[in-house]
Amino acid sequence: MQLPDENIEYQFQRVLVPQAEAWTPLAELQAQHLLPVEELDKIKDRALKVRGQVVAERELQNPPANLRPLNPGFIDLPTKLLDGYKRKQDASELGRVLRLAQRLRDTVDRVVVLGIGGSYLASRAIFDALCHAHHNEMPAKLRMGKPRMYFEGNSIDNDPLQDLFELLENTCVDPDIVDERWGVVVVSKSGDTLETAAAYRAVRGEAAKFYGPKSEMLKKVVVPVTGAKSKLRDLARAEGIADDDIPTIPDDVGGRFSAFTAVGLLPAAVMGLDVRAMLLGASAMTRRFVEEPFDRNPVLQFAAVNHLMTERGKTTRVMSAWSKKLEAVCWWYDQLLAESLGKNGRGPTPLTMVSTRDLHSRGQQHQDGTRDKLINNLVVKQIKHPPVVLGMADRNEDDLNQFSRKGQPDLLDAALKGTNEAYAEVARPTADITLPMISEHTIGQLFQMLMLATVVEGRLMGTNPYGQPGVQAYKANTLRHLKAVPNLPKGEVRDQAKGV
Ligand code: PA5
Repeated sequence: MQLPDENIEYQFQRVLVPQAEAWTPLAELQAQHLLPVEELDKIKDRALKVRGQVVAERELQNPPANLRPLNPGFIDLPTKLLDGYKRKQDASELGRVLRLAQRLRDTVDRVVVLGIGGSYLASRAIFDALCHAHHNEMPAKLRMGKPRMYFEGNSIDNDPLQDLFELLENTCVDPDIVDERWGVVVVSKSGDTLETAAAYRAVRGEAAKFYGPKSEMLKKVVVPVTGAKSKLRDLARAEGIADDDIPTIPDDVGGRFSAFTAVGLLPAAVMGLDVRAMLLGASAMTRRFVEEPFDRNPVLQFAAVNHLMTERGKTTRVMSAWSKKLEAVCWWYDQLLAESLGKNGRGPTPLTMVSTRDLHSRGQQHQDGTRDKLINNLVVKQIKHPPVVLGMADRNEDDLNQFSRKGQPDLLDAALKGTNEAYAEVARPTADITLPMISEHTIGQLFQMLMLATVVEGRLMGTNPYGQPGVQAYKANTLRHLKAVPNLPKGEVRDQAKGV
């Protein structure tokens, strides 16, 4: 059962123009750069109408041309997966994901996740947020059966890929020993993304060298996640992988909205995380979105406030994570926002930062630079570990004994208050998304809140949040150039394909 204090909330009071008693230079700045309460009041009805539209879009079998592409499948997916699991257990889609994850955990000690964009960022965000900060370095016993995780195929970059092969070659010597085995989760909805496909070909070659080209083990340690019809599915079938062992990304779920398909869930389950809690969080957020009035609806509030501020010229949208563990969640949001709303010469520009780290690089600009920013803080209330306390020291040259009874969370809290205050004093808008803690349940809520809010924001601004026609041009040009690049002389090619 979800406890009320596990809900994440959006607090945006500091974005609003305060009631001014008299004219002051600050009141003038606030009127120019913050959001008048009346404007927010005015948009509430529209936001509720848009909600009705987004909810209705779920039922459209044959959407009109102006709504295409339309991929609202992500909205009900968490609830459907949980219901399916309740009814059919292992025979359900979630059951399949859990089975394949368990197989990987039982079979290998290292898993390489291949994928890019929406087929990468959610699993990376989940790993960083919910696993130990030094997971891969921890001894097997402390990892409690959770394999080490590596992410590749998320760019085109020769040397890190070779570095990974070098690591695998040197640490995985005997394929008969579980602790020395490695596996692959290869994720691509279309199945023909160059980055992922090229990385998979290379990784597959390494795996064939390690296990032997005809080894049955290859079918056990490679798990593809792809669309119902794709080159990757064809390739996997040709390699003898059973269809039942290839989770399908549903057609009506777009890449960057696929965190709660096997794209995010399979790696999360491999990491030993509670994916049902994650889905419960997401499902609870959908319910709040559909049922709650504007004043208790974090999705509508976030969408409306951010939309209005973009319209008022705050076109750079900073997501400031007040925990390093949430940095990759901000990268994930970068993609969600940029690919969904960056269309037709419009759309906010996302920017990830970690506080307080980046206050020492970007802080000056946020306080004093171009007034084009809205900062959304991502704040965590409850830490996981006992606080690291400053303590009394014999040598007090650093003058810290005065804070001896304070810990890292107190320092962070003071910095958050101090930063928000500093920005408020010069009418720089900031708001807070507050997570009671970092857990599967809150990460599930957060992903679903931001995906829903992005769709609502798209509808508010008249931009189709689904599809990404703008990325086709670079892909086509890349292929043309690749065809024109002369082949490497044979001797210089690392012979990865040998034996495949
Ligand atoms: O949001 C999207 O659809 C994209 O960012 C894709 O996720 C990304 O291009 C990867 O595509 P695919 O999963 O087809 O390899």
